[in-house]
Amino acid sequence: MVGLGYAGRTALEAFSELPDVEVVALAGLETEVLKSLGAKFQVPQLYEKWEDLLAVDGLDAVSIATPTQLHAPIALAALDRGLHVLCEKPLARTVAEGTAMVEAAKKAGKVLKVVFNHRERGDVAALKHQIDEGQLGRIYYAKAHWMRRNGIPGMGGWFTNRELSGGGPLIDLGVHILDMALHLLGEPKVTTVSASTFAELGPRGRGSGPHVVNTLGSAFEVEDLATAYLRLEGGGALQLETSWATYRAPGDNFGIELFGTEGGAKIEVVDYNNTDTLRIFTDVAGVPAEVKPATGAGLGHRAVVSEFVAIVLNGDWSAHIGSEALLRTQVIDAAYASAQAGREVVLHD
Ligand SMILES: NC(=O)c1ccc[n+]([C@@H]2O[C@H](COP(=O)([O-])OP(=O)(O)OC[C@H]3O[C@@H](n4cnc5c(N)ncnc54)[C@H](O)[C@@H]3O)[C@@H](O)[C@H]2O)c1
Repeated sequence: MVGLGYAGRTALEAFSELPDVEVVALAGLETEVLKSLGAKFQVPQLYEKWEDLLAVDGLDAVSIATPTQLHAPIALAALDRGLHVLCEKPLARTVAEGTAMVEAAKKAGKVLKVVFNHRERGDVAALKHQIDEGQLGRIYYAKAHWMRRNGIPGMGGWFTNRELSGGGPLIDLGVHILDMALHLLGEPKVTTVSASTFAELGPRGRGSGPHVVNTLGSAFEVEDLATAYLRLEGGGALQLETSWATYRAPGDNFGIELFGTEGGAKIEVVDYNNTDTLRIFTDVAGVPAEVKPATGAGLGHRAVVSEFVAIVLNGDWSAHIGSEALLRTQVIDAAYASAQAGREVVLHD
């Protein structure tokens, strides 16, 4: 396992709970954290650099939770060595990197899975069930958002450095809600993307949140707010809105609204809460009604890690080479290109 930050620690806990998994090596640059996690989770081999971890004999899989610019180099090296790969979101900074990763997984005949943990929430799973049962009819419009008042993740760290991260909240948070939306909508093709990005608070030193990572002292180089309008095959549309910092009500909120021919739905998650987040809008005997399904929290990272291990153990790997994650990266790339060009980008005619 590479990476000792929030994402790496969360995956480490999840892997450690599974009976078929032995975590044999851990890598990360924070020496003290490395030692303490090694002791806590009884991981025998500890390394600072990912290259040294990949040289360990007898590995079956590697889990990547590093800054985004290292996703491709580590995954390519691991797949080249014949290892299965679980990679944190986003797949990569660009379509070029992501395509190389997917092609490497195909060539190696190994698994490349990306961590989209929010689609594993209980409310999302319950809503997906309602959609698959036809309760909403044909969904023709969707709006997804992830908006923070004051949540730039580590001002001056890798998140705000374009070279290291590939972008701001659009690639960081937007990729989660894009995944959630496309998953719920049944994976429609995105035909066009029109986006705008803004950097209004970050460059002036405002909006720095509590999630602090090691600072590199670099400038704020990415957007702090992005909005994108996506046309979907079959005539539907999806609006995405995401921000690390903007003047709005306090908090860290994400969610989705769906509008269908037979019903609607809304998930609103406030500061990562797990209860009372889902509403279904319908008619009961001709009277507008609102249903509040009771949903569990879901397993998040734990679900993704378990699925990864199950796929690896199952031996049927060819359908799990990161293709869905690459589609998300294509949309994010197109959104940045659209914002830069100031016009719509066509993905599929
Ligand atoms: N799925 C989620 O909910 C979620 C949440 C947070 C972050 N993430 C993703 O996880 C990844 C990591 O994010 P984070 O917040 O944990 O970051 P972080 O900065 O807290 O941790 C990054 C880790 O990578 C390690 N690292 C950097 N260079 C290395 C090298 N050369 N060799 C070995 N280790 C190296 C660092 O030492 C550190 O331990 C990002 O891609 C991010 O988008 C996902």
